[in-house]
Amino acid sequence: MRRRVLRAATLIASVSLLAFASGCDEKLSDIAGPSPGLTPTYSSIAQNIFASTDGSGRTACTQCHTNQGRVPAANLNLLPEAGYAQLVGVASVQKPGAIRVIPGDADGSYLVHKLDGRADIVGQRMPRNAGPFLTEGQMLIIRRWIDQGAQNN
Ligand code: HEC
Repeated sequence: MRRRVLRAATLIASVSLLAFASGCDEKLSDIAGPSPGLTPTYSSIAQNIFASTDGSGRTACTQCHTNQGRVPAANLNLLPEAGYAQLVGVASVQKPGAIRVIPGDADGSYLVHKLDGRADIVGQRMPRNAGPFLTEGQMLIIRRWIDQGAQNN
C-alpha cells in the first residue's frame, strides 16, 4: 500500500516535471518574439540582438558599437567576438560605479538598466535614437543569461 502511494507520487512528480519542461520550451520561443532564435546564451544574444536587426525593425547595436571603421560608441564594441570581454565585469565609461554585466545579478547590471531605460542611467535608453526598444520577452531572455552566471557560452 505504502509503496503504491510512493509510486503514484513519483509518477505525478515526473509527469508535472515533463509538462513544466516542455511548457518552458514553448514559452521561450513564444517570448523571443521578433528574434525567434533567441536563447539565454552569450552567442545567441550576440548574434540575435547585438549584431542583428529583428522583426520589430530594431537597429542592430553594432551599427554604433563596433570598431569597424570607427571608434565604438561609449568605447563598447559589441561585435560577437569582442562583446563578452567588453561587458562582463567591466565598468561603465559613463556612470561611475556601474558595471555593465554582473554575473548572477541581472537587476544590478548596467546593460539591463540601459536597455530598460531606467531613471538612473546616464545618456539615452538603448538602442539609441528612440527605439524600437527590446521587448519584455527579449529582456527576460537576456536577464536569464545574466542570472545564470553570464557565461561565455
Ligand atoms: C545609433 C547608435 C547606437 C545604437 C544603435 C546603440 N547604441 Fe548603445 N550607445 C550609443 C552611444 C552614442 C552611447 C553613449 C551615449 C548614451 O549613453 O546615450 C551608448 C551607450 C551604451 C551603453 C553604456 C556604456 C557604458 O559604458 O556606460 C550600453 C550598455 C549600450 N550603449 C548598449 C547598447 C545595446 C545593447 C544596443 C543594442 C540593443 C545599443 N547600445 C545600440 C550608441 C548606440
